[in-house]
Amino acid sequence: MPLNARMDAVGDYPFDRLRALLGALEPPTGVTPIPLSLGEPQHAPPAFLAETVARETAGWSKYPPMRGTEPARAAIAGWLTRRYGLPENMVDPETMVIPVSGTREALFMIALAAVPETKNGRKPVVLMPNPFYQVYLGAAVMAGAEPVFVPADSENGFLPDFASLPEDILERTALAYYCSPANPQGAIAPMETMKTLVNLARQHDFLLISDECYSELYYGAPPTGGAEACAALGDDGPGAMRNVVVMNSLSKRSSAPGLRSGFVAGDANLIKRFSRLRDYGGAPPPLPLLAAASALWSDEEHVVANRVLYAEKYVVAEEILGGKYGYYSPAGGFYLWLAVGDGEAAARALWGDAGVRVIPGEYLAREADGHHPGAGYIRLALVHDLETTRDALTRITKVL
Ligand SMILES: Cc1ncc(COP(=O)(O)O)c(C=O)c1O
Repeated sequence: MPLNARMDAVGDYPFDRLRALLGALEPPTGVTPIPLSLGEPQHAPPAFLAETVARETAGWSKYPPMRGTEPARAAIAGWLTRRYGLPENMVDPETMVIPVSGTREALFMIALAAVPETKNGRKPVVLMPNPFYQVYLGAAVMAGAEPVFVPADSENGFLPDFASLPEDILERTALAYYCSPANPQGAIAPMETMKTLVNLARQHDFLLISDECYSELYYGAPPTGGAEACAALGDDGPGAMRNVVVMNSLSKRSSAPGLRSGFVAGDANLIKRFSRLRDYGGAPPPLPLLAAASALWSDEEHVVANRVLYAEKYVVAEEILGGKYGYYSPAGGFYLWLAVGDGEAAARALWGDAGVRVIPGEYLAREADGHHPGAGYIRLALVHDLETTRDALTRITKVL
């Protein structure tokens, strides 16, 4: 049966590659396995999440509206406005916000709404950092674009420099994914960089997607966001956030990856098109879950507490790993990006000898122009409690 050959260009997802790498290898007997491979927060979400869902039973008998509800859109616009100090009327909840069932689907699907057949008469390009969240690649390829991997390594502070790309690439760029705080390196883009990106998107008429799901996990100043950069460039009222959408999620901020809840906000024209696409193939958040999401966006207390838990783990990580494997304490996010030499060998040894599951950095990046920015690294997700994290990191130093 002939099938969509674009799938072949995407290749296996990193966790499938990890399963294949580890194969029949088992952790040592008697050792409790600790998975640090997946960025799946294990802190408890606030109790009002489940309480809200339990209360909103009427919503189970309704198809949820594709655009979410008015209170949910208002809660999201309110959060964005407070968090980034935006002008009061900049984010219109009715035309600029859509709640989504997690940002993974939205990051993927938006490319189908945004990438044209051709850009300036040629094959369109989708820019992404390298290493990167793998959904960007799937989206670019399935939308029929050429993915362009822009290195984000220690030489450039782990931030990709889209502005320095050749004119030939920028002319063909239809969409650019940017991630700050970055997964996996935890780098945070300063305001100047975010403004440059917005200007670049407008100058070359492409869509900038600012993936901000780690925005609330920071250990110094709060990260700048795409909406904040638009405001700093003078955006306000109708027409705000032209060429820009931001995405954020409750998976990391509220430790609720199972809720599958996030949002897309920005350029009203794009939101309208995205909304039409979702009419045909979207899965809007169920109403009881959307009510819980609205409550979570309206509360900061649990987010502050969550951030403290991560900060404590970085203190312990520094104690155990400081001075080893290029250790640095990231500005944001919840990962460690360690330079171990051979990432695959390290992942096998850590699983087989210590029961700690990590992912080789190689699987999170692609070789481009003879350079592989993920080679030699492993990524660790510090998603467990403090004691489990301490145990895992101690085991790691013993094996490596
Ligand atoms: C960079 C990045 N973007 C987006 C997501 C998707 O998050 P969710 O679908 O849970 O909102 C993740 C999840 O790990 C991520 O690391």
